[in-house]
Amino acid sequence: MTTRLAKLSAALRTLRVEPQGEASGLSAVALNPSPSLTYLTGLRFHLSERPVVAIFTADAPPVIVLPALEMLKVIGLPYQVQTFPYPENPAEWEGVFRQAVQSLGLDGKRIGVEPRALRLLEFHHLQAGAPEAKFPDASALVSSLRIRKDAEEIAAMRRAVHVAQKALENTLVLIKIGMSEKELAAELTVQLLRSGSQPEMPFSPIVSSGPNSANPHAAPSERKLQPGDLLVIDWGATVDGYVSDLTRTFAVGEVEAEYHKIHQIVQAANAAGRAAASPGVPCGSVDKAARAVIEQAGYGLHFTHRTGHGIGIEGHEEPYMRGDNELLLEPGMAFTVEPGIYLPGRNGVRIEDNVVITEKGAACLSDMGRELRAVG
Ligand code: CO
Repeated sequence: MTTRLAKLSAALRTLRVEPQGEASGLSAVALNPSPSLTYLTGLRFHLSERPVVAIFTADAPPVIVLPALEMLKVIGLPYQVQTFPYPENPAEWEGVFRQAVQSLGLDGKRIGVEPRALRLLEFHHLQAGAPEAKFPDASALVSSLRIRKDAEEIAAMRRAVHVAQKALENTLVLIKIGMSEKELAAELTVQLLRSGSQPEMPFSPIVSSGPNSANPHAAPSERKLQPGDLLVIDWGATVDGYVSDLTRTFAVGEVEAEYHKIHQIVQAANAAGRAAASPGVPCGSVDKAARAVIEQAGYGLHFTHRTGHGIGIEGHEEPYMRGDNELLLEPGMAFTVEPGIYLPGRNGVRIEDNVVITEKGAACLSDMGRELRAVG
């Protein structure tokens, strides 16, 4: 945590120099309970009606405004913090926020925030404390710290992949024709917990069969597995705060020839996407490599989403594998490669793996077979 905080301070030190005048500088970053706050401080708070805000600056220790009842969480941290606890009566909160913001001299300054996480609740309290301040989007700055995973983070992601794969193997042997998607999703969830996933999984498993498998984000339904179905399972685990996100497609009994064909195409697209992943290569190239395989096979219109998204503390984070993304891949970046072909009203296929960029290429964290396996 101390290294991460030091990196943020260093970044703020350069940004404070406002090269283009006050429109571009940044004096602080204010975060509410969010994956970024956990990343930087190791602290976890529930998002509740009681606002919690941590304010980071270039030189002072982080300032944390929090309910007095949460003070135990900030005692004994391996770094210095300055706390501003408030009592239960909401009428007193604003005064405490004002003291905190003013202790850092932030009124009239630019305080970066994460618009995807910060609520109006925290924003209004911050604004009341610094009425002349501006609150620009600092997502890019915070994400630039999180985007390259260190060895410890990658090891946790490997464990999350391992747990997910084990849970699915334990579930596959229980699949029977006539079982509903919901029953199968429930079984997989239990197996994920038994295999060692934390209860806060990155998302509830997607289990979609037959025509439902042609919808990339289907929710498990009462539909029962039938011979001839393709079965898409998209699932992940959380281990030590880091997630995995995998997809495999199965055949329920015998399936028609075209489904074997599209499965092979998606398998080849997945391999091409993974092979394109390398340091110095734009994110867009990973998407283009996977998409080219599907387009050349004549199914381009049926691959309706980007090829992948970053993973780490969150199931979806930077970098995004989109054709127009020119961001260059660097060692430590972790993301999914998940091409698919969806035939509306019929069936769909997706194959998803988790990849980490290394010094020379990319390592695939998932090693579960990608061939079309029969189940049921
Ligand atoms: Co995914």
